[in-house]
Formats: sequence, structure tokens, C-alpha cells
Amino acid sequence: MSALTELYQQIGQCFKCDIAKLRCHVVPGEGAENAEIMFIGEAPGWHEDQQGRPFVGQAGQYLDRLLASINLDRRQVYIANVIKCRPPDNRDPLPTEIQNCRPWLDAQIDVIKPKMIVTLGRYSMARYFPGKSISKIHGTAQKQEGIIYFAMYHPAAALHQQSLKMAIETDFQKIPKILMEAARVQEARPPAEDAHQLNMFEG
Ligand code: URA
Repeated sequence: MSALTELYQQIGQCFKCDIAKLRCHVVPGEGAENAEIMFIGEAPGWHEDQQGRPFVGQAGQYLDRLLASINLDRRQVYIANVIKCRPPDNRDPLPTEIQNCRPWLDAQIDVIKPKMIVTLGRYSMARYFPGKSISKIHGTAQKQEGIIYFAMYHPAAALHQQSLKMAIETDFQKIPKILMEAARVQEARPPAEDAHQLNMFEG
């Protein structure tokens, strides 16, 4: 059994949060175990809960088109969420839910060892760019402990607001270059507090 499959079984048995009892399916994530790029969204929605797969609704179809715009498809990357169960009525994830789910996301990152983590929206951004505002840092990258973190608007937000749509599409185009130049990207020091933004990648 692969390390990811084993992890999915463990995640499927997690009932730490009340919302776990409401789920049709847990949505651990999907993609290549050796993916260089990992996308982290917010939480499963109705479609994801029905299918047990991340980003399969309208926002997911848009994410697929964004991936295609840089010649990738979802089988070549890894897609996960900050929390693995659908919050009722698609409300925002609660701090306790994010905290309870954090070990699962960390374990996924440990298995996949991505070169680059792309945060989609505020909730995953908050984890890696604490205290920052998405309107200021989207489209910028920073490196911490060997991983490049790249902040982006959430595809669902971008779908409904033309200015964000332009921003996410422009930011997406930067991904291949950042990945290619990953080795040259300087480490941020110290990791979390002094988040050294890489202006070289700003639009
Ligand atoms: N929005 C997310 O953040 N994640 C999904 O899986 C679907 C929609």
C-alpha cells in the first residue's frame, strides 16, 4: 500500500471535528505522490463531499483550465485542502477544524515532498504567510526550509470577480518559471516572521 493510500485510510477514520459526522465523503486530496507542485485550497464543497475528490465543482473546473494554461493536468500535481470535511452550508472553516486537520496536511506534505506549494485563498495563505494580506502578496513567492510557497487568490473568488480573475491568470503563468528557478530562490530567514518576499516574481 502506498504511503498516501495508508494516509487516506487514516484520514477516513478521523472524527475529531463535529463536521466529520455530516460528511458524505472525506476529501483527503488527490494527485501524484511525487508531484513537484502541491495546491492547497480551503475546504470541500458540496460536489467534493459527494465525490470524495477535491476541486471537482465549478472552481475545480476553472482550476483545471488554469493548469492546462501551463500545460499541466491534475494528475501531474497534488491538490488538497486545509480541512478534509465539508463545513455545513459552505461556511468558512473554524480555527479548531484547521488545527485538527493540520497533522493530516503536514503528513501529506511529508509524503509528497513538493518543491512548490501554491496556496489558494486566504485560509491556506494564512498558514504559510501569517499576518499577510492576499491582495498584497498574491503572485509572490518565498522559500522556507527548501519549499517555495506561492500565494494565489482562490479560483472560486476569481470566477466571480473580473479583477481577481485577471490576477489569478497572470499569477498562474509565473509558476513554471518559479519552479525552474527554484534552486536559485533564496531562503527566507528566519522562516515565519521575516517572510522575505521575492519581488523578482512580482507582476
Ligand atoms: N474550494 C476549495 O477550497 N476546495 C475544494 O476542494 C473545492 C472548492
